[in-house]
Amino acid sequence: MAIHPKIEELRRKRAEAQLGGGVERIKRQHDQGRNTARERLELLLDPGSFRELDAFVQHRTTHFGMDKQKYLGDSVVTGWGTIDGRLVYVYSQDFTVLGGSLSEVHAAKIIKIMDMAMKTGAPIVGLNDSGGARIQEGVDSLAGYAEIFLRNTLASGVIPQISVIMGPCAGGAVYSPALTDYVIMVKDTSYMFITGPNVVKQVLNEDITFEELGGAVVHATKSGVCHLVADSETQALMLVRELLSYLPQNNMEDAPYVATTDDPLRADLTLDSIVPDNPNKPYDMKEVIRKIVDDGIFFEIQENYAANIVTGFARLGGHAVGIVANQPMVLAGVLDIKASEKAARFIRTCDAFNIPIVTFVDVPGYLPGSDQEHGGIIRSGAKLLFAYCEATVPKLTVTTRKSYGGAYCVMSSKHIRGDLNLAWPTAEIAVMGPEGAVEIINRRELEQAEDPAAKKAELAADYRARFANPYIAAERGFVDDVIEPSETRARLINALTVFENKRDENPPKKHGNMPL
Ligand code: HXC
Repeated sequence: MAIHPKIEELRRKRAEAQLGGGVERIKRQHDQGRNTARERLELLLDPGSFRELDAFVQHRTTHFGMDKQKYLGDSVVTGWGTIDGRLVYVYSQDFTVLGGSLSEVHAAKIIKIMDMAMKTGAPIVGLNDSGGARIQEGVDSLAGYAEIFLRNTLASGVIPQISVIMGPCAGGAVYSPALTDYVIMVKDTSYMFITGPNVVKQVLNEDITFEELGGAVVHATKSGVCHLVADSETQALMLVRELLSYLPQNNMEDAPYVATTDDPLRADLTLDSIVPDNPNKPYDMKEVIRKIVDDGIFFEIQENYAANIVTGFARLGGHAVGIVANQPMVLAGVLDIKASEKAARFIRTCDAFNIPIVTFVDVPGYLPGSDQEHGGIIRSGAKLLFAYCEATVPKLTVTTRKSYGGAYCVMSSKHIRGDLNLAWPTAEIAVMGPEGAVEIINRRELEQAEDPAAKKAELAADYRARFANPYIAAERGFVDDVIEPSETRARLINALTVFENKRDENPPKKHGNMPL
């Protein structure tokens, strides 16, 4: 039977849309080690699940010879599909069409699926590869960006928003990702900057490469803009899939339960000897976490930024939890500006999406010094405090060793609505460490001592015996129980069940005024 010519026409158009900016530009994309917008969607989504929208959309600009540069679908591919069977909306910018630049209709396509994602309560994943605002479209393009930014903001805390940076993203192309929950970058092939190296050279006469200015490593270690770094595009897309497995579809749901064969009562006896006798000797908090969580799987977020605090997702008894932990291996686990901001952001994401927060505490306090003070540690430290205070999800706290001063208050203490506060026998909860304390409270005695060093050691030992334990806090009920470290997994899983239906809320308000 002959195929109807109209159907043939449809097939022709569809085939044309598949080619984006054409075979030459696709080749260039491949030569640069990058996939095309459509290939990326194939890798990201469950096989065969992608349903495209707006494949026939074209821009309407006529000036600058643009009427001769029209492409079906313009410079972005949009639609929906599934990841592990769960609905997700996607857009994938097509660099082969005018550098993936954002035209009025490109923006309209993204806006359409953002609105659908909000209406149906499903995550949105953006695959970004764009030269920013389409220069030929002027203010229409800027308007498109602004409309997207507005929707990113309104969707924040309602549906998960994930951005993957898969090429050079410049100008407005970086602000939408910056407004989303997670930014994932690909090493060596993706960049984010407000203005590229050429403009930097013109304005500042500074020579800098793409990689040095805005590569994945820079944003994962220095700026903190990037949450996860991948070695390849495929790995980046697999990270999206994994990340979504810890998140609910929207703020009215819980994260998916993932059955495990890991015994909820499993006691790892090696935990009982993991904290060294010497309080100044470090140990790896990530090892502690892996020994406690289901199957030892810890999905770390911002691994190489402010490594003195560890943040990431895991499961306990099949339930997703967000973990925040001081890391004694890096700067003795001290809280500084970057660590405070990193953890605050993570906590707020967990709270927005109903993910219980488990906090492991071993913190000597806030980092002193003019760099930190002048850099605004007061404001940044307050962000962390604000985030913990405000969070209404179940908050479980395990103090493994030090919990000193303001950091004691901040790190999910009982007083700021910690639901279950456990301490290991090695916990030391006090205003400050013994050495610092005796220098202040015994200053005169030390000045008059024949052997000040010996006297200081004696006084510090006395202070330690008196204060460096969890029992004073436990006497007051600030610590609910002192447990053997090997019991931690069973106790946390039990508590998650107990607090599963926890109800807590903040006073009605438009929004709080977090010290930004
Ligand atoms: C229109 C663009 C474009 C843009 C790239 N192209 N950016 N077209 N508008 N913004 C086109 C190029 O003309 C080229 O077309 C094709 O895309 C590929 O670009 P190349 O430069 O050949 O690619 P590459 O060498 O890989 O460099 C990529 C790049 C560079 C680093 C992104 O193109 C670049 O610097 N673009 C401009 C980036 C920028 O300054 N954007 C800011 C816009 S202002 P042909 O036909 O030759 O293949 C902005 C403000 C928004 O975004 C503010 C909101 C807050």
